[in-house]
Amino acid sequence: MAVTTQQLIQWKQQGRRIVALTAWDYAIAQVLDQAGVDLILVGDSLAMVTLGYETTLPLTLEEMLHHAASVRRGVKQALIAVDLPFLTYQESPQQAIHSAGRVLKETGAQAVKLEGGYPIMAETVSRLVQAGIPVLGHVGLTPQSVHMLGYRQQGKTPDAGERILSEAIALEQAGAFGVVLEHIPASLAAQITQKLTIPTIGIGAGLHCDGQVLVTTDVLGLSQKQPPFAKSYANLRETITQAVQDYSNEVRERQFPEEKS
Ligand code: KIV
Repeated sequence: MAVTTQQLIQWKQQGRRIVALTAWDYAIAQVLDQAGVDLILVGDSLAMVTLGYETTLPLTLEEMLHHAASVRRGVKQALIAVDLPFLTYQESPQQAIHSAGRVLKETGAQAVKLEGGYPIMAETVSRLVQAGIPVLGHVGLTPQSVHMLGYRQQGKTPDAGERILSEAIALEQAGAFGVVLEHIPASLAAQITQKLTIPTIGIGAGLHCDGQVLVTTDVLGLSQKQPPFAKSYANLRETITQAVQDYSNEVRERQFPEEKS
């Protein structure tokens, strides 16, 4: 059975952890889906890890639609949420509905994710939900605000923590089906997770979130640089380099292809 937003909320109630990873194309999405990932996020981190931009800011809606549609074609079970790129939703709720509507219509993904909380973004989330568009919130470190926040851990002072907590609550009240908590203290993430009835998906936010998400290039050991909270479960950069060198050697030594008699 395909994963739904309601299912994610139920899993929180049952204490079943949610597994989320990012994907950027058909091949990787197919592997993640067949491996049993619950939630596939077409994150705008693809701007950096796949398209080579320095930040997520230059990514366009057209580029995101192109990648999200290819991810969708590779997925049968997981729920797919697509990041709305920088400045495709911040101007007004109308702009957000237009962009998110294009994501759902043109890619077949089931949900969108956007960054920020109370008060402006909560209003936008409420309008999207009223239009029938499921929304995943994202608070804490929000990379689209890199020029304001940097990539530093957020919510370290009591005031900053309170603000992030009230943003998460406002997103839930606005109808978000879940909220990503990025790079905040574990104790704050635990407090938010306890207060909300929708699931929290943590990245660099400790063990007590309802689920975890990582950028898949980090998990696979493909990234050249990765954040301190990421963990690699393979070293594909090394594996791929070795495979390419073996192939190159065999071509140069005339060992591949084998001579047919
Ligand atoms: O863009 C992204 O990959 C994200 C994360 C939460 C992993 O937003």
